[in-house]
Amino acid sequence: MNLKEMLKVADKIVFAKTGRHLDDLEEAVLRGTLERETYKQIAKDFDCSESNVRNTGSKLWQIFSEKLGEDVNKSNFKSAMERLKNSNVLNFAQNVSHSFNICGESRHPPDIPNPYQQNENISQSKSTETLHNDLSEMPDLGAFYNRTPELETLTNWILQEQCRLIAITGISGIGKTALTVQLVQQIKDEFEYIIWCDFDSSPTLAEFQSNLIRIISQSEQLDLSANNQKFLPLIKYLQKYRCLVILDNIQNLFSSGELAGKYKPGYEDYRTLFKQIKELSHQSCVVLTGWEQPRIITEVKSENSLIRTLRLTGLDVLAAREIFRDNGLTEIDPWDAIIQRYQGNPFWLKSIANLMQDLGECEIEVLLNNTLLLPEDVKESLQQQCDRLSEIEKQVISLLAKENHPVNLVKLLENSKINSSDLINALQSLLKRCLIEQQGNFYTVLPLIKQYIESLNQLYK
Ligand SMILES: Nc1ncnc2c1ncn2[C@@H]1O[C@H](COP(=O)(O)OP(=O)(O)OP(=O)(O)O)[C@@H](O)[C@H]1O
Ligand SMILES: [Mg+2]
Repeated sequence: MNLKEMLKVADKIVFAKTGRHLDDLEEAVLRGTLERETYKQIAKDFDCSESNVRNTGSKLWQIFSEKLGEDVNKSNFKSAMERLKNSNVLNFAQNVSHSFNICGESRHPPDIPNPYQQNENISQSKSTETLHNDLSEMPDLGAFYNRTPELETLTNWILQEQCRLIAITGISGIGKTALTVQLVQQIKDEFEYIIWCDFDSSPTLAEFQSNLIRIISQSEQLDLSANNQKFLPLIKYLQKYRCLVILDNIQNLFSSGELAGKYKPGYEDYRTLFKQIKELSHQSCVVLTGWEQPRIITEVKSENSLIRTLRLTGLDVLAAREIFRDNGLTEIDPWDAIIQRYQGNPFWLKSIANLMQDLGECEIEVLLNNTLLLPEDVKESLQQQCDRLSEIEKQVISLLAKENHPVNLVKLLENSKINSSDLINALQSLLKRCLIEQQGNFYTVLPLIKQYIESLNQLYK
């Protein structure tokens, strides 16, 4: 099948799935892929951003994967199309558009009445899934808006600068997990292995390491006998294969009631893992997301380092408005003001949108003019985060919550009985948790957290 025929078939597949033909960018991505161009080259030729091209590619691979019943990506698209041709070789040569029908909703390859080809397709699809990806713990991505600059930064750090360890921080609900899922969709073709680990189950290092090695070593057991005892066995796999490993909800490694980033008893050996990922040469990238990060991340501030932190802030107004639209709300004047007051936090905004839906847009809109409403699910999420604070952090954040303006260190020292080192450590820890903000020498607590702490009143003294 020549390039033109392949594009024609691809167009039919996209049309069957979406009801529309390939647009110019999609065609450019497929053409570039078939001509073995990188996303970067395709973006340059098309005069658009690389992330735009990646995004478009990732949506197309999803469509083809569903239609062809196997994991299709940039690196195997051409061979997948060839296999499609072979799966219906008789019709194919004569009539491209007819042959495409075998991939239609009702007759994708596993349904082709040819036992030999069916098995071939099934084993192909299984092996791609189990050998290269374990995304079973990755949540589904719902509607996702914007984040283009963040995706560009992350893609650049991972693919161009080959960073080894990246932390995505931010308050709960800001979109760390959603952003990372979108990132994985966009860059997954660049890796031999992609593994998503949800740390909600708090695996010990031994469990985590053996699980990862089990997934990666399905293709080849590495001889670890000569492994330097100082190096964790996992490092050898990260050296041999280009892996992207996501550790979501990493806060579960750290103690509650302590300053941010202090390992729970029994989890201290993760310090060695992160140190070796940072210091030893390898070709993989580990992305950490969560409310707290290992301290090794925040120690490193140099530009040349292969460790990076992305502190995620809220969605911009245009993207955030889409959340209200998704909830079927009619456009109202104060939308933008509400978005700003809830700092573009998608979880908070979704929750307010739900309130508006349940109790009536106008009612809530009037209330929102005077106050910051705290829906129950938002309260619960803030409680979970605040419960993790150390006693001194609780004192400091409640002091800040009493102020109506940003406060500097001198005033905080005057107002509290906390000694200066403890105060500074607590401020630093609260900043890492993204619960307070710093403007020059002044500190302030986020408005919604202030509201939450005021609502608790007597709990924090
Ligand atoms: N860019 C986005 N566009 C639309 N919705 C988004 C976006 N980012 C996040 N959301 C939605 O906001 C909610 C919170 O996002 P997410 O779970 O990713 O936050 P998080 O920072 O990982 O929170 P936590 O720290 O509690 O795990 C989810 O329902 C998610 O689908
Ligand atoms: Mg999350």
